Amino acid sequence: MGKKILVLSASPRRHGNSDSLSDEFIRGAKDSGNDVEKIFLRDKRIEYCNGCGACLKTHKCVIKDDMEEILGKMSNADVIVMATPVYFYSVSAQMKTLIDRTYPVFKNLKNKEFYFILSAEDTSKERMSRAIETFRGFSEYCLPNSHEMGIIYGAGVLDAGAIKDTPAMKEAYDMALAIK
Ligand SMILES: Cc1cc2nc3c(=O)[nH]c(=O)nc-3n(C[C@H](O)[C@H](O)[C@H](O)COP(=O)(O)O)c2cc1C
Repeated sequence: MGKKILVLSASPRRHGNSDSLSDEFIRGAKDSGNDVEKIFLRDKRIEYCNGCGACLKTHKCVIKDDMEEILGKMSNADVIVMATPVYFYSVSAQMKTLIDRTYPVFKNLKNKEFYFILSAEDTSKERMSRAIETFRGFSEYCLPNSHEMGIIYGAGVLDAGAIKDTPAMKEAYDMALAIK
């Protein structure tokens, strides 16, 4: 049958390093029979959360943009893959804006499996872990019964495309191939 996998690619650079890792992950996930959809966040209109709190009662956001559709897809997914470049040792602004906008529904994003994909110039996984902690602040601390399944570190890559010469591409493919 396969799983429903949603890939959220949050680099501003299409075909950049984290986006290329996302595509390899998708290739592996499709080869093992899963149903995969990717959203390249820069293609979407996603405003900042304005903190009004109306959604605490209504479970709907007052802002009318593409986030409602994305939240529907996140709710339907069995697996959510979050891919980001490391920006100042955190996630990209696109990714953080998306996370904030899950506020209307995050308590209902239950039982999801998560994979994280990162790319950075740095080669230190320890320093990249600050960005991982941002992801965990969302998935592990805030979502009911989430499961962290794997992390792909695209380390030591600055220019777009540099990732293609690294073992992380195969790691992304193989990790996704194991999803059944
Ligand atoms: C605004 C900005 C901030 C960055 N901050 C970091 C950083 O803190 N640590 C790091 O190792 N690389 C940093 N980088 C480099 C990117 O993480 C690196 O080029 C990465 O491969 C980009 O991924 P992408 O091709 O998916 O956009 C930064 C790049 C930009 C544009």
